[in-house]
Amino acid sequence: MENYSKIIEQIYSDVKNMDDIGTVASYIPELAFVDANNFGVHLSTIKNQQIGFGNVYKKFSIQSISKILTLTLAYKLKGEKLWDRVDVEPSGNPFNSLLQLESDQGKPRNPFINAGAIVICDILISHLKNPKEDFLNFYKEVSNSQNLKYSEKVAQSEKKTGFRNIALCNFIKSFGNIKNDVNDVLDFYFYTCSIEMSCKELSNTFLFLANDNFTTTKNTPVLTISQAKRINAIMLTCGFYDESGEFAFRVGLPGKSGVGGGIIAVHPNKYCIAVWSPKLNKKGNSFKGMLFLEKFTSKTASSIF
Ligand code: DON
Repeated sequence: MENYSKIIEQIYSDVKNMDDIGTVASYIPELAFVDANNFGVHLSTIKNQQIGFGNVYKKFSIQSISKILTLTLAYKLKGEKLWDRVDVEPSGNPFNSLLQLESDQGKPRNPFINAGAIVICDILISHLKNPKEDFLNFYKEVSNSQNLKYSEKVAQSEKKTGFRNIALCNFIKSFGNIKNDVNDVLDFYFYTCSIEMSCKELSNTFLFLANDNFTTTKNTPVLTISQAKRINAIMLTCGFYDESGEFAFRVGLPGKSGVGGGIIAVHPNKYCIAVWSPKLNKKGNSFKGMLFLEKFTSKTASSIF
């Protein structure tokens, strides 16, 4: 069933007209300024279909969606040794929790919770000459877009109020699993979260996780088959924190959310879809984004199960 356009248009209008019980993230003060009525959906398929509805070209703060590409770059640089520093188990806890680190001796459960992404940023700092510049260049290459930047405002806003991340980084350092200066690691982490992209850019960027050879649209290889399998698997089991089971249950695709209200989901061998609606449910995932994707995979019978 591949008449995606009609289906997306219908679900988009149904979900747009529904009540939104979520709230916009405000613990990063700058994020609270977004217009909560934004709603966009963009689908990119491996057969080169491009279908979008609503605010598809408007850039927004991708936040934790960037954790996919920090992981991708660290995995390319460090290979299987990466898993000595971060585990691959769902945490069943909120994205910014400190709880399990004590019993796990500073080894984060997975690379998509904040603790894990902070360790990944530490690894990148150890490998990259100019971490911010080099990471952004990698991002531009994967997305085939030169038009990408960090948001100074969002990064600085998070830096001023990022008390939990500051605590996480110091706590992990006390176990020896952060090798660089905590301020450098946190600064880099906040900047990676501040990247701004549109739904169209997101679905095209993460299409590399769906195509046969895991290449960019310009055929540049990004990951090996085995690496792509593993990243998709971690997205399926850990991409939505303590709501990962719920996302797999309702949507049935590997995916990743961000507190800016974006979600990307991947159907290997078929497509990547990006949704943006800023109001979040209690677990920090876009309320309408999840609803849209649930209806989309049900109606198109295109979950991986
Ligand atoms: O570290 C934070 O709290 C944010 N920069 C990112 C969190 C996030 O996007 C979690 N996603 N749902």
